[in-house]
Amino acid sequence: MQLTGQPVIILKDNVERNRGKEAQRSNIMAAKAIAAAVRTTLGPRGMDKMLLSSTGDVVITNDGATILHEISVQHPGGKMVVEVAETQDDEVGDGTTTACILVGALMEQAERMLEREIHPTVIAHGYRMAMEKALEVVEGMSFEVKAGDRKILCQIADTAMTGKSIESVKSKLDGIVVDAVKAVAQTVNGKILVDEDDVMIKKHVGETMDDAELVHGIVLDKARSSEEMPRKVEKCRVALIATPLEITKTQVKSKIRITSPDQLVAFDEQEKEALRKMAEKIFDAGANVVLCQKGISDAVAYYLGKHGVFAVQDVPDADMRKAARALNGQVVQKPGELTKAALGQAELTEQLEGVDIIKISGCKNPRAVTILLRGSTQILIDELERAVYDGVRVVMDAMEDGKYVVGGGAVETEILLRVREYAGKVGGRTQIAIEAFASAFESIPVTLAESSGFNPIDKLVELKAAHSRRNKSMGLNVYTGKVVDMYKLGVYEPMRVKVQAIQSATEAASMLVRVDDMMITQNPPTPPGGMPPMG
Ligand SMILES: Nc1ncnc2c1ncn2[C@@H]1O[C@H](COP(=O)(O)OP(=O)(O)O)[C@@H](O)[C@H]1O
Ligand SMILES: [Mg+2]
Repeated sequence: MQLTGQPVIILKDNVERNRGKEAQRSNIMAAKAIAAAVRTTLGPRGMDKMLLSSTGDVVITNDGATILHEISVQHPGGKMVVEVAETQDDEVGDGTTTACILVGALMEQAERMLEREIHPTVIAHGYRMAMEKALEVVEGMSFEVKAGDRKILCQIADTAMTGKSIESVKSKLDGIVVDAVKAVAQTVNGKILVDEDDVMIKKHVGETMDDAELVHGIVLDKARSSEEMPRKVEKCRVALIATPLEITKTQVKSKIRITSPDQLVAFDEQEKEALRKMAEKIFDAGANVVLCQKGISDAVAYYLGKHGVFAVQDVPDADMRKAARALNGQVVQKPGELTKAALGQAELTEQLEGVDIIKISGCKNPRAVTILLRGSTQILIDELERAVYDGVRVVMDAMEDGKYVVGGGAVETEILLRVREYAGKVGGRTQIAIEAFASAFESIPVTLAESSGFNPIDKLVELKAAHSRRNKSMGLNVYTGKVVDMYKLGVYEPMRVKVQAIQSATEAASMLVRVDDMMITQNPPTPPGGMPPMG
C-alpha cells in the first residue's frame, strides 16, 4: 500500500471544517450576534420583538428566551449561547437576556485577549477565578426573604413582570402570583420546596385583560356532559374516575343471540340496568361532581343529571392528576372503588357562561392551584402568560433560597468594581483575564441605559461613582434616568437569577474560547426508507 502523494482522507466530504483562529473568530461572531439580537429588549423599557414563527403565528414579545426559541440558530457557537438562555429559563425562569448579553460581552473581551496572544487556557482560567469572586460579591449584597414577606415577594414578581405589555394588570397579578406559589409551597426538612407544575396557568381569550384570578382548585377547558346537569354545584365531593362510564364491547363477555324483538327489549333493559347501577354507585359514594377520564354514556349522564350531579367526560390525564392534587382526592378505576377518602373536596363547581370552561374552586389546602388569565386577543394573552410564568418562577426561586438582590444594574456594577480590585491582587496574565471579565459586566448597565433611552456612558460613570462610595444598592431608575437606591425603589430579583446567569455565561464563554477546531457535518440526503448515517 502506498500513501505518498495521496491525500489521506479522514473526514467525509460533507464535513465543513474551521480551524484555529478562524474557528475562534467564528464562535465569537456568533455569540456577539445572538447577544445583539436580544439586547434591545433588556429592562422594563426595552423594545418588543415581533416574530413570525415557522407555524405562521405572530409572536410579540420582550422575552429573551422566547425570541431565541423562535429564531432558528444554525451556527454551533451560536447554538451554545441559545443553550445558555434555555438553561437559564429552565433553571430559574428569568434573566435569559442578561445571560445572553453576558456571554456576548465575555466573548468580545476574549476576542481582544486572543488578539494580544493571550492563550485561551489562561483566559478560561482567569474567567473561572473571576466568576468565583463575582458569586461572592452577589452573595455579599443579598438580602433575606421569608415565605411570609408578601410585600417583598410581590416586588420580586413585579420586577420580573415589568416590561411585558401588561402594565394595567400588573399589581393585581403580583398578589395572585405570590399567593399561588405560597399556596403550593411545602416545607420538607425545614426547607421550602415548590414544584412549578403545581401552579397551573389557564388562558381564556375574550374578556378584558383586567380579569385574572387565582383559583384554589382547577380550571378545565370543557363543558359538562349534558345540558340537563346543573350549571353550578356547591359543597362539592368530586369523584375522579379513570375508566369509561359506559358499556364497552369488551365488557360484554358472553355472546348473546337475539332471536326475537322481546329479547332485544330485554337486552336493552339489561344494559340500561347496568348503566343505572354505575350511576348509583356514584351517588351512593356521596359524589355530586364527576370527572371521568374517558367517555360517559348518554344513559349514565341522564341518571347523573337527574340526581343533580355535575359530570365531565374525556378529562385529559394530566388534568386528572392535577385535579387529584388540587382537590385532595384520588383517581379510582371504577365507580365501585369510590370511598369517602377518594373523593376530592371543593366549595364550588361551575360551568362558566357562554364558554367551555369549568371552574372547580375553593379547595382547602390544595397541593395545586390555577391562575386563570383572561385577555382580549391571543397575542396579548400569550405575553401575559409568559409574564405570569416568569413571575411564578422568580417568587419560587426567592422563596426556596430565601435570598434576593436589587436590580437596575446594581449587582453588575458592584461586580465590575470588586472583581477589578481583586484582579490587581492576582497579577500576571491571569490578571488581564480577570479584568476583562469585570469589564464584560459593564454590558448590563450600559444596555439597560441604552434600551431605556439614556446615555450609556454617563450612566455608567454615575453608577461606578456611586458604587465606589460603597453604596452597593445604587442602580438605574429606568423611568427617570436617575441613579438611585434600588432597595428603596423596590426593584428586587431573586439571587438565583443572577447566580445562574453568571455561572452559565462564564462556562459557555470559557468553553467557546478553547475551541480551535470546528467540524460541521452537513446533513446528507436521507436514504430512501432509512435514517441518515451517523457522523
Ligand atoms: N423598575 C426597574 N428599574 C430598573 N431596572 C429594572 C427594573 N425592572 C427590571 N429592571 C432590570 O431589568 C433587567 C431585566 O430585564 P429583562 O428584560 O427582564 O431581561 P431578562 O431576560 O434578563 O430578565 C434586570 O437587570 C433588572 O434589574
Ligand atoms: Mg426578566
